[in-house]
Amino acid sequence: MIVHKKLTNGFEYIEVKNEAAEAKAALQGAHLFHYARAGEEPILWLSEASDFELGKAIRGGVPVCWPWFGFNEDKSLPQHGFARTSLWEFVGGDEVDAKTTVLTLRLTHDEKTLQIWHYKFLLELKITISDKLMLELKTTNLDDKSFKISQALHTYFSVSHISEVAIKGLDKKLYLDALTWKMEIQNGDITFEQEVDRVYQNVEGEIVLSDKKREVYIKNSGSSSVVVWNPWIEKTLRMSGMKPNAYENMLCIESANAFDDARVLKPQEEHILGAVID
Ligand code: BG6
Repeated sequence: MIVHKKLTNGFEYIEVKNEAAEAKAALQGAHLFHYARAGEEPILWLSEASDFELGKAIRGGVPVCWPWFGFNEDKSLPQHGFARTSLWEFVGGDEVDAKTTVLTLRLTHDEKTLQIWHYKFLLELKITISDKLMLELKTTNLDDKSFKISQALHTYFSVSHISEVAIKGLDKKLYLDALTWKMEIQNGDITFEQEVDRVYQNVEGEIVLSDKKREVYIKNSGSSSVVVWNPWIEKTLRMSGMKPNAYENMLCIESANAFDDARVLKPQEEHILGAVID
């Protein structure tokens, strides 16, 4: 089942249900904000205080950060780029079999994007909803000059309690600590006792989110950087769309091309950033 829905404020999203899973994706930002396997609790975290309003990014799910990850040197431009607050075109939904549905959404340059990012592009997100979740974000350079992108599938995961989770698979990896801007080396599993905001580098293997209620496996492609983030107490209070204790039940493991892993695309060249969440 694929249903196109519209809230009274005009906010549109696509609802999917098949034998294996269910999902919801907004046209704004191609933002997947719900995914759950049949009969199971959602894998993605969605803030109870999130806005479903045009122009504001949803807090939770999988924001698409593009064409830059993090802040821009030009501070008047939005953090994490403009894709997550732009209205994408719903290209279509394909019910491949009883357990697999594929949604495709597309964003391309227009007068507004060309004013803030001076390149012609095509951005397509393919979301496969099955007993696994698969995301493929394809950037094509439609311009006659090269451009550089940094980006992320900024996935928010729902966890039973932040103090009880461990992230495995990043031991001995070099990371940029975005709280101190120093390079560090990971020692063992990642656990959470304070704010964590890190860009791990040269990541190839699978990452495991080990939680009391389940294990989630994340395998990225077209990417060698992974962002791990939890805002903890004080930053949560400063953030939009978050309840004060929201940090306790979420964390982000972001499939990225960030910092040294940013990519340069020549005219007509394409790059696919992918994530399989199982
Ligand atoms: C993460 C960054 O990717 O996104 C954090 O590493 C940031 O520093 C977080 O706070 C959320 O960003 P935003 O723009 O959605 O509030």
